[in-house]
Amino acid sequence: MKHLLSPLDFSVEELDELLELARDISKDPKKYSHVCDGKKLATLFYEPSTRTRLSFEAAMLNLGGSVLGFSSADSSSAAKGESVSDTIRVISCYADICAMRHPKEGAPMVAASKSGIPVINAGDGGHQHPTQTLTDLMTIRELTGSLDNFTVGLCGDLKFGRTVHSLINSLVRYKNVKFVLISPKELRVPDYIRDDVLSANNAEFEEVENLEDAMPKLDILYMTRVQRERFFSEDEYLRMKDFYILDKAKMELAKESMYVLHPLPRVNEISVEVDDDPRAAYFKQAQYGVYVRMALIMTLLGLN
Ligand code: CP
Repeated sequence: MKHLLSPLDFSVEELDELLELARDISKDPKKYSHVCDGKKLATLFYEPSTRTRLSFEAAMLNLGGSVLGFSSADSSSAAKGESVSDTIRVISCYADICAMRHPKEGAPMVAASKSGIPVINAGDGGHQHPTQTLTDLMTIRELTGSLDNFTVGLCGDLKFGRTVHSLINSLVRYKNVKFVLISPKELRVPDYIRDDVLSANNAEFEEVENLEDAMPKLDILYMTRVQRERFFSEDEYLRMKDFYILDKAKMELAKESMYVLHPLPRVNEISVEVDDDPRAAYFKQAQYGVYVRMALIMTLLGLN
């Protein structure tokens, strides 16, 4: 039984197969509309979500399956003190596969160790968000035709942003991907990402604070929200929250071929005036999230 807890749980070759399947699904979703007839997906969300939970649910429904689950810890027996381990043992009796989001880093891994069904990490604290990474990889591949030979700027909260950690973990495995890490010094990537992932893989990277200076060299700009829920102090969050605002003037500094991605939700970091720019790809990215999660469900259930 295979789980998806980290983006590294799939080899580059397995990822290629999954992304190829997601592409095929995007071209003709109807072809897949009965692949999961009779199967059930449980969505166990101990933290808020719009895209991840609902795109998982849409994915399973598109495949002909059914969904069950909860959307907050308060509406589950976690509120009475039930452990993740006990919960997953029970859910294994009700569903064929589950997607779990939890504020504690490593909670989906604990669940997987006790689970009778495949567990998908749908975001664990400030740690990893592997299915967002699958979405990001599909978006870059579909827009540019490749996952090799480009410069990506990751901008905003690189300390707490789990989507950034997962994406860096994954992109270091492709050829000639250069990283420009754009953040205030307080929100730089954690040491383990800099040392154990970027440096350990001999990735070319620089850490800068100024977005305008970085813009002309980027092929992909990956904007992120400042993660209010992970800050210890509200004052510190307020000081950081509008550090970067991508607007039309900054977009004029970028290549005509540069794409803007964002895992969403956005707060203020991308002005709505950018939404009409043909290089703004973040809503298309959300659509790709459904196709790639359909491919993931099929793959983990052995139905591909
Ligand atoms: N991108 C993402 O994880 O969005 P949600 O928090 O809405 O699921």
